[in-house]
Amino acid sequence: MHHKEKIEETATFAEKLLSSDASGHDWFHTKRVWKLAKKIGEKEGADLFVVELAALLHDIWDWKFHQGDETAGSKKAMEFMESIGVDGITRDKVCSIIQKTSFKGARVKEEELSLEGKCVQDADRLDAIGAIGIARAFAYGGHVKQPLFDPSIKPILHESKEDYFKANTSTINHFYEKLLLLKDRMKTETGKKMAEKRHAFMEEFLEEFFKEWNCGE
Ligand code: ADP
Ligand code: NI
Repeated sequence: MHHKEKIEETATFAEKLLSSDASGHDWFHTKRVWKLAKKIGEKEGADLFVVELAALLHDIWDWKFHQGDETAGSKKAMEFMESIGVDGITRDKVCSIIQKTSFKGARVKEEELSLEGKCVQDADRLDAIGAIGIARAFAYGGHVKQPLFDPSIKPILHESKEDYFKANTSTINHFYEKLLLLKDRMKTETGKKMAEKRHAFMEEFLEEFFKEWNCGE
């Protein structure tokens, strides 16, 4: 099987696994991340085979939703890549990206990533901000039954991933705890540029939200 066919097989596999998700990790998210990561990877001169595989497999088993097993996603990705004959070096590169890419709290030190990892992480983060990011945040908020906003809960810049994941928060707070921080944490020049407009749109959204919250016009 050639690289192109392996990518197609992987896309079919990811689509099957992710087609029924309603928490914001659906197949269309993965499809957008795949496209964005490829675009960034092309501009940055990354190994596109690694970029595309990692983008397609990055969310197949989110440990937040699966009893906290952090390695489950990369194990499943590893098995799948073996089954379609992806070579060992590529498999290790892809799995390392899958394990490191996720946001784990504002004050948690970010892990070192390969160029390919940077492309995938930037793509995943672009899909967490802007209009799509806003929609996904509220979809996630509904999924975990947290309030849209509660002025009595203050945003926290989390020191550990445990605190971040069990935080009692609101979806509006999530903007201050993660989404508005992403623009300055983009890892590639291409990603940084792409984040600007999406970031500005979220700021505009929040301004309108608070105006309306206070029943202004
Ligand atoms: P990452 O891609 O960094 O692993 P996650 O899987 O944690 O991101 O999040 C997936 C989506 O759900 C993102 O768009 C993210 O902003 C959103 N999300 C995560 N936690 C919350 C939360 N507490 N409130 C609202 N949205 C959230
Ligand atoms: Ni993702």
